[in-house]
Amino acid sequence: MRDEMSSNRPTSFLKWAGGKRKLIPQFHDEISSLENMGQRWRTEPNERYHEPFMGSASAFFGFKKSEMIREDSHAFLSDLNHILVYTMLEVQSIRLPELMTTLEHFRREYMEEILSKGYPEGLSKTDREKRYFYVKRKRMNELIQELKSNSQLPKSKRHELASTMIFLNKTCFNGLWRVSANGNLNVPEGRYKNPLNIYQPDILKNCQELLQNAVIQHLDFKSAFEKVEKGDLVYLDPPYIPLNLDDYVFTSYNSEGFGLEDQKQLAECAAYAVKIGARVIASNNDHPVIRRIYVEAAENAGIPRPIFRTIPIKRTMNSKGDGRVQVNEILMFMHPDEVSARYTLSEIQENQQICSQFLNELPRNKKFTEIIEVAHALCPDLSRFCEENLDRFKQLKARDKGSMGKMAEFYIFGQLPNSDPTPDLNWGADIKATHFKITRDGYNAKERLTITNCGDTSDYSTFEKLMDTDSLHENHYYSKLRKGILLVFEHQGGTYNTVEENLQKKLLSMFTYDLDEMPDEVTAQFNEDFADIQEKVNTRTVSQKGQKFIHIAPHGSKGSSTRALCFNNKFVTKLLTIRTGIPLSIKGSSWFIEKKHFSEE
Ligand SMILES: C[S@@+](CC[C@H](N)C(=O)[O-])C[C@H]1O[C@@H](n2cnc3c(N)ncnc32)[C@H](O)[C@@H]1O
Repeated sequence: MRDEMSSNRPTSFLKWAGGKRKLIPQFHDEISSLENMGQRWRTEPNERYHEPFMGSASAFFGFKKSEMIREDSHAFLSDLNHILVYTMLEVQSIRLPELMTTLEHFRREYMEEILSKGYPEGLSKTDREKRYFYVKRKRMNELIQELKSNSQLPKSKRHELASTMIFLNKTCFNGLWRVSANGNLNVPEGRYKNPLNIYQPDILKNCQELLQNAVIQHLDFKSAFEKVEKGDLVYLDPPYIPLNLDDYVFTSYNSEGFGLEDQKQLAECAAYAVKIGARVIASNNDHPVIRRIYVEAAENAGIPRPIFRTIPIKRTMNSKGDGRVQVNEILMFMHPDEVSARYTLSEIQENQQICSQFLNELPRNKKFTEIIEVAHALCPDLSRFCEENLDRFKQLKARDKGSMGKMAEFYIFGQLPNSDPTPDLNWGADIKATHFKITRDGYNAKERLTITNCGDTSDYSTFEKLMDTDSLHENHYYSKLRKGILLVFEHQGGTYNTVEENLQKKLLSMFTYDLDEMPDEVTAQFNEDFADIQEKVNTRTVSQKGQKFIHIAPHGSKGSSTRALCFNNKFVTKLLTIRTGIPLSIKGSSWFIEKKHFSEE
């Protein structure tokens, strides 16, 4: 089903920022997995669909094609963008053939201009304004101003508005719809070699067909929620929270005028809709604030906690300080019924993807005890395991039960710590814990993370396995380094020696990692570090000097000659930023994470 869907992706006739076309197969997978756990997500006869942030309606078209929404389901599509709504209505109407004729005409004229006069670069303002694109943009702005004083346009003008909008959408820079303070479109002309897609008869006809049972309206999301009833399905794709919250803190709105308060009100509307028996799926950037807003809205409404699913997006964003961070999107599923049991212990231990999902659902920035409580609610097997084995865990030596890694192994992953050298989890990951300390600038890793012993300088022949291969990736120790789960606790002063005391520590973050999936610059640095380590073993001058991410460092008691491969502090700090999308800040030689990213609001 997935392959079939990606090869035949349903398409909107518009290109729209945040369009969901590519994500439809993932939605489909997530919904199937939730349905396997007993929650119903697809619509049945008489159940209606709502999409209050319609945009290009690519989500709606995709859901219809993938049969998540039944062909005969009634749909309510709305958006605050008046032009978009008028255009969608024209495509839905019986006037579509006229619209197509006009678009074909626009395409021909536009192409003639490109062929005879080329692109707009280097033209004076006066010459540019004469171009086809800018003439159409000017006309669009006149229509926008007219709409402001009279929201009911006559039929002839609706046709003009829709055709001009589709033309501009396909010829402007990146398909952006950006308006100035007075509402005028101000996006420049793009540079398309052959914008054939101005006129796409098959796609337009297909969209018209899919829109037949839809009511399309110009509405703010709050008014759209007034129509939601028991049994309905709602999909929310609002303007996303900016990843750099400064964009909110200083302006309280993002570029689309959708602020933090709007995000909160939206979560409240969603929770209320679920309370009356609707089902809601919401998309956003995977930011801790978004998770918190939805959990709080659910708690206040007394409905089950949302189920979070992250969608790794191979999109990178520039962040202050150091280059790029990976940005994930999140899908939040809110349903009036609790799933029977969301996870089984064996799935968490055996399956990397399910394990990541499970970790993603747990809260952050809370005491370890509170996180354990949620983990046990999500996985009753785990709860049972801990109850049954608590005495055995307590009988372990202090060192074996008191370290944060061992506690995580027991309380979150349902295993009694042992000294078996195989990875802790069957999918190949070791469970590790570390501490981040707070400095004047922000948080960073307090200590290096020791991964595996690799030899002893009192007898260099013990480094044999390290020297076996030229490449790190083929090396014996790579399987130890490669995959893991890291839990990051806040380092606090005072004594934290007993299990009970350690349960009070704040867990800042937790994530899975796989060194095979690191950005290229990181992989290149590993290779350099490995070459340096081998060089030092060869010349019998083992030290960590010069190694930037992977260190060979003394391990064991003070003065010991045993050496281990470790992730150094800087890499541990960076790893968190790579895996969570939280930006890394750099000041001089200090790498850190600003405090606000770990604050409980
Ligand atoms: C991320 S886009 C939706 C993308 C869409 N799902 C798609 O696939 O193309 C967000 C949409 O929300 C609309 N919008 C912004 N603020 C709104 C509000 N307060 N109420 C309703 N719609 C709003 C914007 O006009 C924009 O079309």
